[in-house]
Amino acid sequence: MPRSKIAGIGKYVPKNVFTNKDMMQFMETTDEWIQERTGIQERRFADRTNETTTTMAVEAAKVAIERAGITPQDIDFIIFATLSPDYYFPGCGVLLQRAMKMKEVGALDIRNQCSGFVYGLSVADQFIKTGMYKNILVVGSEKHSFGLDFSTRGRNISVIFGDGAGAVVLQPTEDANQGILSTHLHSDGTSAEILAMFNPGTHANHWQEGLASFDDATIGEMFMSKAMIDGEQNFPTMDGPAVFKKAVVKFPEVIIEALTANGYQPSDINLLVPHQANLRIAQFVQQKLGLTDDQVFNNIQKYGNTTAASVPIALCEAWELGKIKQGDLVCLAAFGSGLTWASALMKW
Ligand code: UT7
Repeated sequence: MPRSKIAGIGKYVPKNVFTNKDMMQFMETTDEWIQERTGIQERRFADRTNETTTTMAVEAAKVAIERAGITPQDIDFIIFATLSPDYYFPGCGVLLQRAMKMKEVGALDIRNQCSGFVYGLSVADQFIKTGMYKNILVVGSEKHSFGLDFSTRGRNISVIFGDGAGAVVLQPTEDANQGILSTHLHSDGTSAEILAMFNPGTHANHWQEGLASFDDATIGEMFMSKAMIDGEQNFPTMDGPAVFKKAVVKFPEVIIEALTANGYQPSDINLLVPHQANLRIAQFVQQKLGLTDDQVFNNIQKYGNTTAASVPIALCEAWELGKIKQGDLVCLAAFGSGLTWASALMKW
């Protein structure tokens, strides 16, 4: 059975740099607080009218496809991970297919938030291994800036996120020393509400008491009622410390799972590319696994947390900086809303 390899990788981040000082114009926060608690110095925000989750994904995909030495017409399957789609439906996969004038190939949308890219990579890996597809485009893209609460009330979540996109082309390889060795996917829905955006949705207050009043809403308005908007219930919410506590347990666990499955140990890793959730989380994971600074790549300082885009953006930047060479053991790991977490171990 062939393995799948990353044949091409690309990233796109918007030009607009939004610093912690810029954040202070909107809410009570400080550069010191943000840097100390998250490591973030600045993030990129998409152009409000000219850039969408799909347009950023297209830019990243163009680079990945070109680096793979193929054209958009060679792509035979699309996997698109995002939590900030252009439309509630249809998903961004078909919008990318249209924008890149691809053939009428399958387009699958993934809703696994911060783990979305690694989940997508795992799905693509299975399709390549069975021989069903030969050139799969896996994309993670987010335009968070369009849907964050920039008042002081939302400061614990809004200072973290940034916009951007990353993409890879997956192809089969017969080389025994290259490709994805294994992927590992997990979830725990018991904590689904600790990092969530409830509206628009069909929950009708089922999960969250007092989330919205439907007294004066017609049946059609309950999906997204005026009361929800007036009550500012259309933003993501997070119990940061609860997510943090889970993350520092599940990240090391899923990395060890991947290493053990393939007979490796932490010292064998050439580069760990963790989801860029919070620099403190990455440092905790590094310490727990006994990894050196050279073994872990972080770029959250410049881009913030770009959710589904963060792993491919970081992987791409690490590769562009020459930190990944052929034959290197590379581990990807992600954790986020769901809760979901995942890892992928590969020989580059
Ligand atoms: O990628 C998806 C997965 N997400 C994560 O992994 C995020 C995990 N969580 C975190 O990274 C951290 O919990 C945060 C960075 C979100 C927050 O850091 P924290 O150290 O856990 O802070 P906290 O929420 O416990 O808040 C501590 C204090 C509070 O004030 P009081 O109650 O102690 O007076 C907050 O109101 O910091 C306050 N605070 C802020 N102050 C200035 C919260 N956000 C801010 C802010 N600026 N932006």
